[in-house]
Order: sequence, then structure tokens, then C-alpha cells
Amino acid sequence: MTSPAMSKAHWTPSSWRDKPIAQVPTYPDAEALGAVEAQLARFPPLVFAGEARKLKRALGKVSVGEAFLLQGGDCAESFAEHSADQIRDFFRVFLQMSVVLTFAAGSPVVKVGRLAGQFAKPRSAPTETVDGVELPSYRGDIINEIDFSVEARTPDPRRQIAAYRQSAATLNLIRAFATGGYANLDNAHRWMLGFVKDSPASGRYQEVADRITEALGFMRAIGLDPETHPELRATDFYTSHEALLLGYEQAMTRVDSTTGDWYATSGHMLWIGDRTRQPDHAHVEYFRGIQNPVGLKCGPSLTPDGLIGLIDAINPANEPGRLTLICRFGADKVGEHLPGLIRAVEKEGRKVVWSCDPMHGNTIKAASGYKTRPFDRILQEVKSFFAVHEAEGTIAGGIHLEMTGNNVTECTGGARAISDEDLRDRYHTYCDPRLNAEQAIEMAFLVADLVKRARLARGHSRPAEAAE
Ligand code: PEP
Ligand code: CO
Repeated sequence: MTSPAMSKAHWTPSSWRDKPIAQVPTYPDAEALGAVEAQLARFPPLVFAGEARKLKRALGKVSVGEAFLLQGGDCAESFAEHSADQIRDFFRVFLQMSVVLTFAAGSPVVKVGRLAGQFAKPRSAPTETVDGVELPSYRGDIINEIDFSVEARTPDPRRQIAAYRQSAATLNLIRAFATGGYANLDNAHRWMLGFVKDSPASGRYQEVADRITEALGFMRAIGLDPETHPELRATDFYTSHEALLLGYEQAMTRVDSTTGDWYATSGHMLWIGDRTRQPDHAHVEYFRGIQNPVGLKCGPSLTPDGLIGLIDAINPANEPGRLTLICRFGADKVGEHLPGLIRAVEKEGRKVVWSCDPMHGNTIKAASGYKTRPFDRILQEVKSFFAVHEAEGTIAGGIHLEMTGNNVTECTGGARAISDEDLRDRYHTYCDPRLNAEQAIEMAFLVADLVKRARLARGHSRPAEAAE
């Protein structure tokens, strides 16, 4: 557990360098690495402190059940798949999901993409052996290349500059989409109707889709339409990634001139992965000093005491919206692990957002050899997450998904019943299997139902049909 003394120790953007660190790549040329970090430190920030504060306030609302967090995107962004179409397709799907959640669940949605910086990956082993040849593992495009050769797998610091530039370009297009009229509510609604029409399970979603159409029709009738109301043409969209590569993060850490506080400017929200949350290690040290909203992945090995120690270190002021606990236990382990963590947090009166990552605890190897995640297991983890929160009287505040706007075949199941055999058709991920566009929107409909039921259960007595 973290001692209070440690939490109060002097912090600087580089104080993590004095701590032990996990998941760190070995760069052969330390001088070249230093030069790249110095160059990055001179580059403009990608996001602004004021935006991070706005997201923190929005997450504060999530922590008390007044909004719902939708966080999602690639497991790993790649340099090869960087294109306007790719970003647009993701954004379209994400907006449709958020429309469904907003209307069906009756809750504002805080939209956070896993993009414009999601490049560094923790790995289960530092090396990979193929046909007797052992090479460093692929650690994400910001570090090395996925091809299996010595050149490709050798960490190259110049890739950090490429990742920065790609993040800037992605963010630029996303900002244009979010504020330039593309995020128009009518558009998102029209795309969503297209999805429902084409889905093999369209009957299941038609009723909700009709209700959304009616609500929009009503709004238009009373003069609330995107032409006259700019707020219906724009949306707040935030970026997030796992801050794994701390040299890069340090270079992007800047003082906010209005408050004098330190902010990570590589993304609005950063999170600590399940493999780098050791309380006395470098990642926790870095995170405790930045003022952004931050996430902490909580897997089966996290104990209630361990969690409180981490909260002490990361959010000593108990600031609402500062800390999102992203739970990723696996469908069959939620019931065993989540209640203990919730009780400890409640007993200590800590303000947190509880979010569910139903992806990382449900990865299996298909008979075909592909890593996959069955849609039903993903859904089961979300359902169990909501059930535990209802039983504990706490708030299931958000969902964290690995997803893409494309029609890939990486997760099995869903309305189109993707089979093990189908995986080889369009298995494009650089790391973990993602929900495809249809599966992601389907998930949004199913989650919306759970959010709505949870709200009703909190508000008044539980409706009969909810007792499933
Ligand atoms: C991830 O989010 O891609 C990831 C590696 O998650 P975790 O740290 O929860 O394993
Ligand atoms: Co992943």
C-alpha cells in the first residue's frame, strides 16, 4: 500500500525516472532517444488544460449518476491504417452509440475516444519466438514495428515523432467533425436508422429507434433543430490512451498558464494499465502529479486495500471526476472481485467513476488460432457489472470498449453470428480483437437498456420487466 509520505513527496514530470518501471522498451541508442524527447518537449500541446478540466467536471457528473461515460476505440492505433475514412467511420459509429445511449437511457453521454494517442502496448512477454527465432515483442507503433524482423522489432525513438504527428492529424479531423456540423444530431440519427434496417436483429432495436425518431420529431416541431440550435450541430468529444511510454508523456507534460498546474497534453484522459499499477513504481508516480482526469484499470489481482492505496496516491483530495476505475475482470469473475472493491471505496467515502471494460478479461484463443472475444461473454460481463452495482447501491457509470468503425471479423457472435471460421476473413487488429461497427452499435442498444433500468431502479421501485 502507498504510504501517505510517498504521496506527498515532491513531484516533477521526471520524478518517475527514479522509480522501478515495468513494460519499458529497451532503446539501443539512448542519445537518439534523448534528442527525440527534447524535440517533443518543444512541440505544441495536443490538448489544452481547460478541455481536460471540462472532461473532469463531466466525469464528476458521471460519478453521481447524472451522465454516462462511453469510452472506446482501437486496442492499438497503427501508422498503416491512418486515413480520413478510418477516423470518420469510427466517429460515425461512436456517435450512433452515443445517440442510442442518450435517448434510450435518458442520460447525457460523456464521449471519450481511445484514439489520437493510443499507440503503446503492454505485453505479456518481452520477447516472441517464431520458428526458433527470438525477437523483442511488438509494443505498439510508437515503439517498434509489427513485422517479425530484427530491424522492425528494434525500438526506434523516431516513431514517437510519427505518433505525435498522427495524433495531431487525427485530433484535427475529429475536432472538425465534432464542431463543424458533421456531428449533427440528425446525421447520427439517420445513420442509426440505417444500422437498424440492415441488422439481422432489427426487430429487437426497432422500438427504441422509433422512440428516438419520435423524440427528434417532437423537438423539431417545437423549433429545436440543428439549423436553429448550434448545440445540436456540435458535440464534446475527448481523447484518451494508456500512458505507458512515460518518456513521451513527460515530454508532453506542460504547466497550464492559468492555474500553474501540470497537465498531460498528449490526450484529455490518460489511464494506467493493469500491468503497470504497482503503487511504488514509475507509472503511479507520473500519474499522481498531472491534473487530468485519469483512469485505473482494475483486474482480478487488485485487492481492496491495494485499491485504496492507489486512490490515496492518485486522488488524495478526493476530487470528483479525477479517477475512473475501469474494471476488467472477465465475465465469470466480476461477482467475485467487484463487490469487495466497491465496499472498500464506499467505506472510505472515495468519489470515483465505475466503468466496465468487458473486453480484456474475456479474451480466448479460438480453435482457428485467432485471439477472439465472444460477444455474449462481453455482454455478460457488462450485465454482471450492472447487477453488482445495483446490489451494492452504487453507480455503474460507464463502459470502455475496444471497437472500430469497420466491418472487421475479430470478435465472434453478435447479431450476424460471426463464427470462429469467419475470423480469418477480416482480422485486422494490431493487438486485441475489437467489436466491429455492427457489434458496437448493438452493444450500445443493450447497454442503454441496462442504464435505463439502473436509473429507474435508483429513482423509484424497480419495474416488473426489469426482474430478469
Ligand atoms: C488495453 O486497454 O488495451 C489494455 C492493455 O488493458 P489492460 O491494462 O486492462 O490489460
Ligand atoms: Co487491448
